[in-house]
Amino acid sequence: MIYDFKENDRKMRVGLFRIGLAVAGATSAPAFAADSNSSPAGAHGKALYESCAPCHSLAPNVTGIGPTLYGVFGRKAGTLASFRFSPALKRSDITWDAKTLDSFIENPQHAVSGNRMPFSGMKEAADRAALIDYLGVAAAPAK
Ligand code: HEC
Repeated sequence: MIYDFKENDRKMRVGLFRIGLAVAGATSAPAFAADSNSSPAGAHGKALYESCAPCHSLAPNVTGIGPTLYGVFGRKAGTLASFRFSPALKRSDITWDAKTLDSFIENPQHAVSGNRMPFSGMKEAADRAALIDYLGVAAAPAK
């Protein structure tokens, strides 16, 4: 089963954009994507996390379709005891940090061939950076 939240999100934006154009008149310059440019990185990262949230909690010990991302930084891939990971992720020998998360989120199947995360990837580097910044705060264990 493949969920493509990114694609749905894109379709929705395109739809909203069309409505906006119809209202504004087709000749005016589009004020498109003002949300992602004007909002602070934190808010942008949080909004992007919406594409992960259906499957990943940020709370300890909460398993969804995917493992919780609570404490993901510094964790070895596929080692959380509460989740049954694919053999591919278990043997990947990855430790999650900003760099490894970036390549995994960009294209999960390219980064870890055969893993079972049904997510097609987040193509924009700036989006991934904002998301990873957000995770650095939101997934950090409480001190
Ligand atoms: C449709 C469900 C789904 C979505 C959406 C999803 N994931 Fe996942 N994710 C999974 C599953 C299932 C696994 C376990 C994959 C495996 O075992 O091969 C996983 C694994 C992971 C892991 C490895 C965790 C570990 O402990 O090794 C990370 C990191 C991760 N996902 C991050 C993300 C991020 C960030 C997003 C959003 C951009 C996202 N995922 C979107 C289902 C999802």
